[in-house]
Amino acid sequence: MQKAKAFKLFINGKWLDSASGKTFPSDNPAKPRQILGLFQKGDEQDVAEAVNAADEASKKWSETPAPKRGAILLKAAQLLRQNKEKLARQVTMEMGKILSEARGDVQEAIDITEYMAGEGRRLLGFTTPSELRKKFCMTIRMPIGICGLITPWNFPTAIPAWKIMTALICGNTVVFKPSSDTPLCATRLVETLQQAGLPKGVSNMVTGSGEEAGMSLVRNDRVRAISFTGHRETGTSILKEAGLKRVGLEMGGKNGIIIMDDADLDLALDGVIWGAYGTTGQRCTATSRIIVHEKIKTKFEKMLLNRIRRLRLGDGLNPETDVASLINRAAQEKSSRYVELGKKEGAKLLIGGKIPKMEGYFFEPTLFTDCTIDMRITQEEIFGPVLSLIPAKDLDQAIDIMNSIEYGLSSAIYTKDIAKAFEAITRIEAGLTYVNSSTIGSEIHLPFGGIKHTGIGAREAGIEGINEFSETKTVYIDYSGKLQKAQIDLD
Ligand code: UN1
Repeated sequence: MQKAKAFKLFINGKWLDSASGKTFPSDNPAKPRQILGLFQKGDEQDVAEAVNAADEASKKWSETPAPKRGAILLKAAQLLRQNKEKLARQVTMEMGKILSEARGDVQEAIDITEYMAGEGRRLLGFTTPSELRKKFCMTIRMPIGICGLITPWNFPTAIPAWKIMTALICGNTVVFKPSSDTPLCATRLVETLQQAGLPKGVSNMVTGSGEEAGMSLVRNDRVRAISFTGHRETGTSILKEAGLKRVGLEMGGKNGIIIMDDADLDLALDGVIWGAYGTTGQRCTATSRIIVHEKIKTKFEKMLLNRIRRLRLGDGLNPETDVASLINRAAQEKSSRYVELGKKEGAKLLIGGKIPKMEGYFFEPTLFTDCTIDMRITQEEIFGPVLSLIPAKDLDQAIDIMNSIEYGLSSAIYTKDIAKAFEAITRIEAGLTYVNSSTIGSEIHLPFGGIKHTGIGAREAGIEGINEFSETKTVYIDYSGKLQKAQIDLD
């Protein structure tokens, strides 16, 4: 085996070894014997160093005019664009996504970087009349301070870019703790910001485990905000441990598509296959439930089976591949466990359900039917290519089924009836609803996030992302030259 290259932490503009000197490997999930690099196992000490650097850099960066901050981001976007193909190949190798989706991941990082570069010339507040004469009222945006950003592996460049670029344009400094499954992609993103001319200490990266590096960041009193995307259990402990800081959480979903009897079934089929098996089901927005009108259930099951049978598993770099590997062995075992559970719960396994005999963390695209809402396979996030079909007798029942989960991230309905579409839009409890389109594929200039147990209200990307990473200051300017008392001096 070839000796793996060692990568470093990025603190105060320098690439450093971790204090403990410990490292961990990152592999290619399609070929686990291929080690892409060794990464530093940062811990509390490294996080403290990174927070120091972020603190020192904070004053100057927050006072840098936002359009100048934007110019650095624009340069970073250009560099990402130049290196798009190389970065996408790295995403495929480290995360296992098929190459076209890996290109999408990098494109999304470019899009958010450009968008936030533009925000440098807006960062809008508002003005509004005062109730008193000769008094002026407005809001301005202020940075929050040091932001701790903890990101998942499933969009190894896009999700870090959502958080980092938004935090930076608002004038914050950053300590970034990427997923231990994709530290190479994270390193490339941080290198890009360095090349774009970001001053030292403004963006720091500490790789390492969630328990050590991640939780040290969460507990650090000088960190003013934490933004996290990942599993619900981790998000819940972050919320408990964070103390008095701003916490943004995106903790997944159990996203459903309603397919009405009047739907264009070919269109719905494309949407279901893409939503359930795209990224091997490893999106927070992945379709893991379909709620199908009973009149078309048998027909739609046949259509699904026909299509699923033809899906080709393989290395994401192979252009013939439809479904790539899962991220690691634990993910493979989790999908297996849920298949066994589904069978025990009485769901009918129509296809898939097994770990195929091939190198890498693959799992067969799986479909259960005749599922009910009390089954764990219809309630819990599996994060693999396992789809459950639940029949419904009408729209009301379909919406009730859709809402009968703890999560509330994405949702969709296929129907040609505009009234039914609006019923779904207004009654589904989720942060996102798609009409005649799958549950995945959000765009970066629109808010992204969920309700119920998916999060605690944070929305990322677009203008709402700016809200997440800035403080609003309200400013009153009284130029009357006398004391005017609000609510008391009434005329
Ligand atoms: C996620 O999996 O957390 O809509 C984000 C989508 C992507 C973002 C997914 N643009 O699926």
